[in-house]
Amino acid sequence: MSSQKNTKQKKFSIRSWALKKKKNIPISMVTAYDYSSAKYVDEAGIDTILVGDSMNMVMLGEDSTYSLTMDQTIHHCKAVKAGASRAFIIGDLPFMSYQADVVEAVKNAGRLLKEGKVDGVKLEGGKRMAAQVRAIVNAGIPVVGHIGLTPQSLSQLGGYRIQGKTSAEALALYDDALALQEAGCIAIVLESVPVTVATEITERLDIPTIGIGAGAGCDGQVLVYHDLLGIFDDFTPRFVRRYANLKPIILEALQAFHTDVEERAFPGEEHVYLMKDDEKSKFLSEINQHDVF
Ligand code: KIV
Repeated sequence: MSSQKNTKQKKFSIRSWALKKKKNIPISMVTAYDYSSAKYVDEAGIDTILVGDSMNMVMLGEDSTYSLTMDQTIHHCKAVKAGASRAFIIGDLPFMSYQADVVEAVKNAGRLLKEGKVDGVKLEGGKRMAAQVRAIVNAGIPVVGHIGLTPQSLSQLGGYRIQGKTSAEALALYDDALALQEAGCIAIVLESVPVTVATEITERLDIPTIGIGAGAGCDGQVLVYHDLLGIFDDFTPRFVRRYANLKPIILEALQAFHTDVEERAFPGEEHVYLMKDDEKSKFLSEINQHDVF
């Protein structure tokens, strides 16, 4: 198998975020966690790839994003970079890699760029993470913010709940968005917030918003690869649109392989390697003597 990079489409650059907002052209973002999925996402022309900490659930089988480590994130970021040459790649900073300390936040963001080879990082939280965002930006690293339902604060939020449902909560989200913009974010993910709140915040910000469960008023949309393609079915949030239902197709293929193996219908003639006739007869006669001592 050879690795072919996508050289046909134009690179989504750091300037593309602002340019697309200015021209009112929506930005697409899809998660990817490995070489093959990144290659597909890149080839499909998706603008930006998020190596999201959702990998802890859809790839690693955990029931939250909490336990993901920096080393695991870097491992997956590198694989995504190997598959994608055009999309802008964002690495998600995992839980406790930036919350406790600004210096540690900068160092870990730096590791995602240096070792994971991503183009920028994402972190969760509004006003209370503004110092971290500013410090990472000052180190020359593009940052995407993430507010609303922030899975790294699941215990504090009391579960997967819509955020910003009251006017007071919605205004607090707007203040968070302004703080992140002021701190230097290139974009902000708005997760699971009412459509009115997301639309109003989007209209008032200079930087793009990327929505997930936030309605069509955002400047872009993000979905998890496994949700979009119908691969992950442990649960399906209301905001997911399945663009394909691959699970039954994958299951059918795997079951067909199992049956073929059991019935010796695979491999076929076309899958095997042959010996030249003279070597074959020599081998068959010599292997019998080989065993006689
Ligand atoms: O980790 C992730 O996939 C995310 C998206 C849901 C925005 O943060």
